[in-house]
Amino acid sequence: MTRKLFVTTALPYANAPFHLGHIMEYIQADIWVRHQRMSGNEVHFVGADDAHGAPIMIAAEKAGLTPQAFVAGIAAGRKQYLDGFHIQFDNWHSTDGEENHALSQDIYRKLKAAGFITSKTIEQFYDPVKNMFLPDRYIKGECPKCGAKDQYGDSCEVCSAVYAPTEVVNPYSVLTGATPVMKSSEHFFFKLSDQQCVEFLRNWALQDNRLQSEVANKCREWLEGEDGLGDWDISRDAPYFGIEIPDQPGKYFYVWLDAPVGYLASLKNYFGKTGRDFDAFMADPSTEQIHFIGKDITYFHTLFWPAMLKFSGYKTPDNVYAHGFVTVSGEKMSKSRGTGISPLRYLDIGMNPEWLRYYFAAKLNAKVEDLDLNPDDFVARVNSDLIGKYINIASRAAGFITKRFNGVISTDWATPDDAFLGNLRQAAPEIQALFEAREYGKALRLAMEQADLVNAYVDANKPWELAKKPENDAKLQEVCSRLLEAFRILTIFLKPVLPQLASQVEAQLNIAALQWSDVATPLPHLHTIHPYAHLMQRVDPKIFDQLFDAPTAATTPAAAESGEGASTAASEIEPVAVEINIADFAKIDLRIAKIVNCEHVEGSDKLLRLTLDVGEGRTRNVFSGIKSAYQPEQLIGKLTVMVANLAPRKMKFGMSEGMVLAASAADEKNNPGLYILEPWPGAQPGMRVG
Ligand code: MSP
Ligand code: ZN
Repeated sequence: MTRKLFVTTALPYANAPFHLGHIMEYIQADIWVRHQRMSGNEVHFVGADDAHGAPIMIAAEKAGLTPQAFVAGIAAGRKQYLDGFHIQFDNWHSTDGEENHALSQDIYRKLKAAGFITSKTIEQFYDPVKNMFLPDRYIKGECPKCGAKDQYGDSCEVCSAVYAPTEVVNPYSVLTGATPVMKSSEHFFFKLSDQQCVEFLRNWALQDNRLQSEVANKCREWLEGEDGLGDWDISRDAPYFGIEIPDQPGKYFYVWLDAPVGYLASLKNYFGKTGRDFDAFMADPSTEQIHFIGKDITYFHTLFWPAMLKFSGYKTPDNVYAHGFVTVSGEKMSKSRGTGISPLRYLDIGMNPEWLRYYFAAKLNAKVEDLDLNPDDFVARVNSDLIGKYINIASRAAGFITKRFNGVISTDWATPDDAFLGNLRQAAPEIQALFEAREYGKALRLAMEQADLVNAYVDANKPWELAKKPENDAKLQEVCSRLLEAFRILTIFLKPVLPQLASQVEAQLNIAALQWSDVATPLPHLHTIHPYAHLMQRVDPKIFDQLFDAPTAATTPAAAESGEGASTAASEIEPVAVEINIADFAKIDLRIAKIVNCEHVEGSDKLLRLTLDVGEGRTRNVFSGIKSAYQPEQLIGKLTVMVANLAPRKMKFGMSEGMVLAASAADEKNNPGLYILEPWPGAQPGMRVG
């Protein structure tokens, strides 16, 4: 029976480009979806940008854009990543879309009618300059436990204490520096503490095979903990970028209320475009609703979300599958330590997206475990397993078929199957089941074990030896045909992970798109294949030097090599300029600038266009000749130093309103490194440097 599946991944905040963690999540879900499609199931796989919330509203304001324009800019960048890594969403939408407004309000109205919404007046910190309530992370001050300065409103990074924002000593607003005042306002709550809710969630979360066991255990702790579940504050006061609460002017849904509704909204939007009936699909009891998420957002997906759906009369999720976090060489991804990997850079420097898909798949299992990207491991798995064991089978067999037999294969011998091919076919159900269970690492291990057997067959039959004597032609054709049939079966095993490679193989073997059921259907006798072209390159380990983001300037490989540590001889530096006095220096107004946006300049191979915030309430456009050293997305969000009072200069590409400072060597030819300045943490846009 074909299954009807509605599959989603978490909706990324629309305030930054994708990072490797996002890509891993999408690859995990995409593999599962492709496996389902190869099984003949009906799958609808959708994503969307999570557009709402205070951080996005504030980021947009800083960039001098409306929140709508800001998130549209981020959304416009999504496609190149998704296409680049062969992630095949059916639809990509936004939580600010009209479907989400309507669905969120509908869910709220139904919850309210069912008695699950209450209201309460609460007191909260308020920024009297900005005229807005401050989320905890926008309050800083001294830690009430250890006295450390500049700690966030909810926890201390120095002593790890956790506290309420009201306990912070000398609190200030991160937005304006103003001292926050207490102000009360009415908030709306979803009554999660209601006994019906608790009972429903217990049954839902603890149902067999719904959640991973470690996630189900967490849910049990949450549900059975001392204080049980508290009611959930779902409203925020204006100004807020979000969806208005019906009949409550000036009140908006907290972003986490409407974010998961975005799953439904994206599906509805997709069904609208393709002429399907959303309501009927969701009402069909055989529809399965499956969410892939990261471990940090399980609470929202295993408590709030199912309860919201249940008590508003919507279908509840069938499964929520959580994954761990991507680390790089054992560490959290971090740009300053040089372990931040830009997915776009990965593609730009010519690394094959299917290497990464294979690598992630080889390391993924059904548990909530972190997953490390380690260059040596990556090279070994791709070169030894993927290329060495699998791709090489085709290169060893297809050439002879093309050159010696006009591309015609002979499978006269194929019925009945011999043990060699029979065993290979028999491995399929187990591999299929492992994909189903999201045990991709195990699935690939089994596939590679089968590839080992195929390679053993090559070694035992030595086609290159057979090829030496014309009287062995029939045997040579048989051996190579059998190998191509084996290669075809292995390709089915790997297809959920390597869709592009599989489609190249399908083209070369001159066959229709492979499905799981094709395992049983051999290449027909006297079938003609197309001439062999090489399918995939090995990874050159050196390419990783280009992949890692340049860490802080002093330790870049370039700097280390050219300057040989601290031994830069005095004669190598540029002579110091003519002396000036302090008044001369004071004429130069240096400011801390935040790079709110950065992009390539069409038609220029030297310049990047920077949008800088110097705290003036507007942004500046500055062109800088640093394209050789930085990718735009490395710079977005960083602080740097600029000359703020340099006369504006008209350039071919537009007006440049200032200059950013960057270090470079005198002999730029031999030592081309270029390093822009970054202040120590704590500096704020607009501060004077001097
Ligand atoms: N907007 C919310 C999700 C709303 S879902 C209705 C959000 N966005 S996020 O951009 O911060 O994260 C999106 C997804 O990426 C989450 O599933 C999160 O767990 C995942 N990851 C974020 N960092 C990650 C890694 N380092 N590694 C793997 N996944 C990570 O949360
Ligand atoms: Zn502290």
